[in-house]
Amino acid sequence: MDYALDFENLKTKCLEEISKASSLKDLTELKNKYLAKKGEISLMMNHIREVEDKKAFGEMYNACRKSVEEALDIKIKEEENKKLIEDLKKEKIDITLPGNSYQRGSANPFYKIINEIEDIFVGMGYSVETGPEVDYDKYVFELLNIPHDHPARDMQDTLYIDNNLLLRSHTSSVQAHVMEKAKGQPIKIICPGKTYRRDDDDMTHSHQFAQVEGLVIDKNINLGNLKATLELFAKKMFSKDTKVRFRSSFFPFTEPSVEVDISCFNCKGKGCPLCKGSGWIEILGAGMVHPNVLKMSGYDPEVYSGFAFGIGIERVAMLKYGIDDIRRFYQNDLRFIKEFKKVKED
Ligand code: DAH
Repeated sequence: MDYALDFENLKTKCLEEISKASSLKDLTELKNKYLAKKGEISLMMNHIREVEDKKAFGEMYNACRKSVEEALDIKIKEEENKKLIEDLKKEKIDITLPGNSYQRGSANPFYKIINEIEDIFVGMGYSVETGPEVDYDKYVFELLNIPHDHPARDMQDTLYIDNNLLLRSHTSSVQAHVMEKAKGQPIKIICPGKTYRRDDDDMTHSHQFAQVEGLVIDKNINLGNLKATLELFAKKMFSKDTKVRFRSSFFPFTEPSVEVDISCFNCKGKGCPLCKGSGWIEILGAGMVHPNVLKMSGYDPEVYSGFAFGIGIERVAMLKYGIDDIRRFYQNDLRFIKEFKKVKED
């Protein structure tokens, strides 16, 4: 039996139907009707049993199937393009609609001040260190010349994890860590970080606050070096004409110890509410590193000397930006943070 005519007729019929189809749905139906497992073209394969020249039959079958497949593919692409063009026509973008506006955030003034302080000291050749906030008694007190039962511990009443482990009450603890690591070599570091004390919170006190510790150890370091350093810091931080005044004080880890005041940048020393009429504002504690501290950390006090200072970060920020309450730094009130958007970050 010769199936050539049957294939020819079947192909013509398919191609005609395909050319008439006017939607993707019609084309899918045609694909099923002719090419699916039980489709008309596929079923033709059953006749292969009846023919002798199976090779010729196979070739006719394949040729027929291929023409129909190709015609379908072309038509499907055409219909898809038509649909895309129609969709694009429908989906007009209204460029007059208002866009989404994104709010620009700003750094918390607390971190702005830390960055400023770091920049100033890095500019003077200091490197920036960090240390643990939970630390051993040894580093927070003992190596800083504050032995057990020393009354100076009362001034820094703090939060203990156990008898030996506590939240550091000052960043001075980092001094001991840095000296331990430096093994007798010169040191020139600052360390900004959080500190903790068992304090009742009010406008000027917080159980958590931050300090920047400074430590310089080398040969021939003297009190004049400390004063020049702090004066340069104050001039850069507050204003060019800021003066620095030392008042004698006591810290167990320094000898002599000083309380450092700066001339009031608000009234230029005349007296105003900010400086409580005195013309001076206290900003930090400092001194020459105590010989016992040097000795305990492996430095010979006959050869090496050093100075150290501790600056209250929030206090500096409060003075510089006129912030009235230390608790504002930790309350995450966006209105407060946004106030500092315009403060120049230089
Ligand atoms: N650790 C002191 C405090 O928390 C501040 C301080 C004073 C640090 C004198 C120093 C220093 O390094 O020399 O009150």
